Amino acid sequence: MIKVREITFDYTQALTFFLEADIFEMQNSVEAIHNQLHSRSGTKNDYKGWVDLPIDYGIKEFQRIKQAAKKIQAHSEILLVIGVGGSYLGSKAAIDMLQHQFHNLLPEDEEKAPKIIFVGHNMSTNYVTSVKEVLEHQDFSINVISKSGTTTEPAIAFRIFKKILLERYGEKEAKNRIFVTTDANEGALYSLVQRKKYEKFIIPDDVGGRYSVLTAVGLLPMAVSGINIEQVMNGAKAAYEDLLEPTLEENSAYQYATVRNLLYDKGKTLELLVNYDPNMGSLAKWWQQLFAESEGKNNQGIYPSFATFPTELHSIGQYIQDGRRDLFETIIKVDQQNSNEFIHYEEEDIDGLNYLANKSLEEINDKVYQAAVLAHTEGGIPNLIVHVPEVSAYTFGYLVYFFQKACAMSSYLFQVNPFDQPGVEAYKKNMYALLGKPGFEEHEMRLKSILKRQYKEIKLEK
Ligand code: PA5
Repeated sequence: MIKVREITFDYTQALTFFLEADIFEMQNSVEAIHNQLHSRSGTKNDYKGWVDLPIDYGIKEFQRIKQAAKKIQAHSEILLVIGVGGSYLGSKAAIDMLQHQFHNLLPEDEEKAPKIIFVGHNMSTNYVTSVKEVLEHQDFSINVISKSGTTTEPAIAFRIFKKILLERYGEKEAKNRIFVTTDANEGALYSLVQRKKYEKFIIPDDVGGRYSVLTAVGLLPMAVSGINIEQVMNGAKAAYEDLLEPTLEENSAYQYATVRNLLYDKGKTLELLVNYDPNMGSLAKWWQQLFAESEGKNNQGIYPSFATFPTELHSIGQYIQDGRRDLFETIIKVDQQNSNEFIHYEEEDIDGLNYLANKSLEEINDKVYQAAVLAHTEGGIPNLIVHVPEVSAYTFGYLVYFFQKACAMSSYLFQVNPFDQPGVEAYKKNMYALLGKPGFEEHEMRLKSILKRQYKEIKLEK
């Protein structure tokens, strides 16, 4: 186990599956990849701009983000964040991790910031109708986020909700209420901004969608929700500095990447990111996209999944303990939690819980953690532990950078490009064809003949 300034990464609970020396044997490969990651060479499409973001982000843009957030806070009860994938998962992770768990249910006078509602990541009529109903009696603004500016799901949501906003506030006021985060020079959203003069924030050319949390993509919604984005960047900067060395002894993110690779070679093809607090669930979803889209290529890669314990110990716990031995766990263990909830003593002790009297919930949660690590490792599940000192904007920023760096390293160790996602295009092409998008006529014919054949086969089987 090595200790870095902010988090510690502990792989000792996985050492029955590989030798510690195996990690350090990978030093040469790791160093070569590290140099590649940190070199400024290559084209802008290499998407490595995120590597230096914590120490090299536009201060002016950062100030504009804070000003826009203040403006939104002053005139809106709701901010609609429209985006999908890397364009919304990061800010949602931060907001869910750092905000009051039930902030949407707090009485109005206790709400300190606008509610954030995410749309554009699904096509559910039910979801859209519900959001429309919520908007009926509340003032709102929109932050539409799309690097390409052409992604169908958020584009549709933007069309729907922009109409409502324009009808309610008119073209002039819309300029105060529509905020666009997109590419610097191209795409449909870029053209819209050129024409309508909405306020615009830029996603740098060399920062890809799922690596963009520390740009306006993540920072504007976070700031609107009241998160201290300076602290987020400070945490990321601390991680940048802690993870600057290529040496495996000193770089915990590279250790994590290397150990994942070793476990994969031992048949551990499924990773479960475990947390002990439901407010971390969205962070796990962000992490899942990061690793799945970066690493899952060429018919390989670790399948990233996640669970909250003890909740899921009562659902998938049986499988973890006793099912196929092809998974490992990575636990995000927050070491200093809020411990102001205690179990009280009851005279009658009908529930038999007096043995826990005066213990804090946190202490008990901690024992659940110890118990699960012991049980699962004895059951043949390697456990990796990422110790996080506390839940804060600072540690969120740190974790983001830690996982991004580990993910890029891990993907390169798998010899795949961490920054593209060619596999996502297959469904898009089919969807365009089936929806009759101009330019996809030939593909539409092909799909229709496949569908016709399948239909006939099903009929024959019946
Ligand atoms: O990581 C990625 O690049 C993707 O997940 C994108 O973020 C996602 O597809 C949304 O793309 P865009 O921001 O262009 O709408």
